[in-house]
Amino acid sequence: MRIGFGKDIHKLEKGTGLVIGGILIPCEFRSVAHSDGDALIHAISDAILGAAALNDIGYYFPDNDKNTENMDSKIILSTVLNLINGQYNICNIDCVVTLEKPKLSNVRNEIIQSVGKLLNLDTKKISIKFKTNEGLGDIGKSKAYEAEAICLLEDK
Ligand code: C5P
Ligand code: MG
Repeated sequence: MRIGFGKDIHKLEKGTGLVIGGILIPCEFRSVAHSDGDALIHAISDAILGAAALNDIGYYFPDNDKNTENMDSKIILSTVLNLINGQYNICNIDCVVTLEKPKLSNVRNEIIQSVGKLLNLDTKKISIKFKTNEGLGDIGKSKAYEAEAICLLEDK
């Protein structure tokens, strides 16, 4: 068994929606990023890479690479899965998304379904939690949002 941790933060600006866990959540913000700014998928990808001690997503997708501009983060995750495939199975993942607004608990099931599909993993093995930052700091002022994830891998 091997455990890994990943985190990511992205700036927010006025927009029409956020991509979180591979689905578009219509809201008053957009995520400022080299890719589509899906902090949850980035954190999950780094948690998996961390568990396998395979560096981080920037090692495979440098953020100064013109070819990866506005890239769909699902491609990052599928690349990460290919790296561990053959060696490890994912036991479970547990995540926290810290976003002041909008409330996301009403779309939790959709996000879990989406992540389950991307990971090809039973949704019972996926936990996604949401937190505000209680108005504190840049996340509390909706200038940024953050995602953290842990992942347990087992040898095949
Ligand atoms: O941050 P706080 O502990 O006040 O959040 C309370 C609850 O609000 C969380 O447990 C979560 O269910 C929900 N929440 C949410 N969407 C957010 C932040 C929090 O649904 N963006
Ligand atoms: Mg990111």
